[in-house]
Amino acid sequence: MEERSRANRALWNELTAVNARSPLYRLEQFKAGEIKLNPLERGEVGDVRGKKLLHLQCHFGMDTLSWARLGADVTGVDFSEEAIELARSLSEELQIPARFICSDIYELEQILDEEFDLVFTSYGVLAWLPDLPRWAALAARYVRPGGFFYMVEFHPFAMVFDDESADLRVRYPYFLEDALELPVKGSYADPEARLETRVAYEWQHTLGDIVTCLVNSGLRLEFLHEFPYTVYQQLPMLEPLDEHYWGQPDGRTDLPLIFSLKASRPEICPEA
Ligand SMILES: C[S@@+](CC[C@H](N)C(=O)[O-])C[C@H]1O[C@@H](n2cnc3c(N)ncnc32)[C@H](O)[C@@H]1O
Repeated sequence: MEERSRANRALWNELTAVNARSPLYRLEQFKAGEIKLNPLERGEVGDVRGKKLLHLQCHFGMDTLSWARLGADVTGVDFSEEAIELARSLSEELQIPARFICSDIYELEQILDEEFDLVFTSYGVLAWLPDLPRWAALAARYVRPGGFFYMVEFHPFAMVFDDESADLRVRYPYFLEDALELPVKGSYADPEARLETRVAYEWQHTLGDIVTCLVNSGLRLEFLHEFPYTVYQQLPMLEPLDEHYWGQPDGRTDLPLIFSLKASRPEICPEA
């Protein structure tokens, strides 16, 4: 693992406890039976009963365990030891069967050699990945013929805006070759949290790169959807729309804030 990813892992180890006690994650409500997934991904993924699901970058497993509550046979992967430890303890405490693997996704093939009906990943995953073509090849490699990959993620276009300004102004480049070195200012779930990790390394991947890498990995694009709402207050000017989503004030829908994408692996055709 490269040095910058090692630093990011230390950050995610710290963020696990911070996020778990934040109101954003609603851990107590989840323990009481709530499904943590949003209507968007639930609707677009569809019925998962009996499906074998791999969740890449699962954090401390609430989404993974939510899919399990909906009937999937789940495996979650994350490189944060703290996150995986909490995910395993939630699985045990709540008696929700799940397998959690602690691994850098780039090293996953060394320990996981299986295929899945569905490979899932969501919200805040790509910025931590230095190598997008390798990520896409890995995601595709775990989809069985006839299965699919699904992701929902913050829109790369929305990532260019200043996250500390009430006005909409461009602060970060859309096109970027290397990682941004950003000072750590708490968590998205608790901006006031004090952390020891000082710097985070984040990669910006364009929408074109994301789609191209997935298509080049052999997956067939089924849809790419863009939405003018998001799942937390990622820019100061956003306002809550309902219990799940945030959007621009006054009902404006000028900006793409998240996108979702489904790509399938074609069935193997018998030789003619
Ligand atoms: C923003 S979180 C995902 C959050 C998730 N959608 C949720 O709300 O629970 C990003 C996750 O990616 C993980 N991660 C980052 N780089 C990784 C890598 N190379 N391999 C595995 N996990 C990684 C982090 O540990 C973190 O748990």
